[in-house]
Amino acid sequence: MKIDGSVALVTGANRGLGVAYARELVRRGAARVYGAARDLAAVTEPGLSPVALDITDPDRVAQVAKDCGDVSLLVNNAGVLTYSTFTGAPTLDAARLEMETNYFGTLSMCRAFAPVLAANGGGAIVNMLSVSSFYTNPFDASYGASKAAAWSLTNGVRLELHHQGTLVVAVHASFIDTDMAALATVPKDSPGSVARQVFDAVEAGQIEVLADERTRTVKADLSRDQELIYPPVQEFWDAAVSGQQDRPHTSDQPQGRS
Ligand SMILES: NC(=O)c1ccc[n+]([C@@H]2O[C@H](COP(=O)([O-])OP(=O)(O)OC[C@H]3O[C@@H](n4cnc5c(N)ncnc54)[C@H](OP(=O)(O)O)[C@@H]3O)[C@@H](O)[C@H]2O)c1
Repeated sequence: MKIDGSVALVTGANRGLGVAYARELVRRGAARVYGAARDLAAVTEPGLSPVALDITDPDRVAQVAKDCGDVSLLVNNAGVLTYSTFTGAPTLDAARLEMETNYFGTLSMCRAFAPVLAANGGGAIVNMLSVSSFYTNPFDASYGASKAAAWSLTNGVRLELHHQGTLVVAVHASFIDTDMAALATVPKDSPGSVARQVFDAVEAGQIEVLADERTRTVKADLSRDQELIYPPVQEFWDAAVSGQQDRPHTSDQPQGRS
């Protein structure tokens, strides 16, 4: 689909990657870009039409789909990361928050906007996933589970909406230079670079974006994950647990061969 003249909605458009997505859409000539955010006042990027939206609030999601009936490109960007392990987190709260936001919130948006996109000629959905959709890492374990669920959701929604001509794009990325990855001291992709790759894919009708080398390597290694991906992760985790090295606050560690 062409971005020029399209009407887009970006969730989490108040900061980080969401701002980069919105900015790139405006730059490419989108006729209107709804900038959705929990705090309306935080949507400050020029050229956006601000919309109040918490993606975990089903009533609000339904209302926004009604109010923004001209949308032909939905960018499900909003997400949370709590850096929680499965067995060490004190309660299930963090895992539930990640699942509620990254999986159920995205699912809720896809369901609400599917008929809107159909009415507007099919259009496209972009789901912001992660390299963590592909494998589990103790440093962000429950986040990875929610992104794996969102990956499965993305593949399913693509199948279900194929008949109405909706392009469904899965975006997987490693570290991006935003608040979410602020604690990581590794090289990070710029949000602008990710946004450009994603909208190039949308315009080319491409269903998957693997935004960086590490993400491409992990995906390529999936059929041999127990040999290539998990052993170095295990080694790093064991060292962190035994105090041989500082436990990083993020999945800043070896991820398979590179
Ligand atoms: N940064 C990375 O290294 C990286 C790598 C791979 C994938 N990602 C994914 O990229 C997406 C954007 O993340 P980011 O890096 O830009 O992180 P960020 O700077 O932490 O921004 C997260 C955005 O999501 C919004 N959000 C969270 N919960 C929400 C909810 N219930 N309803 C509506 N909006 C909500 C936040 O709004 P508030 O300001 O109201 O909190 C904020 O706008 C996420 O899906 C993330 O998982 C990030």
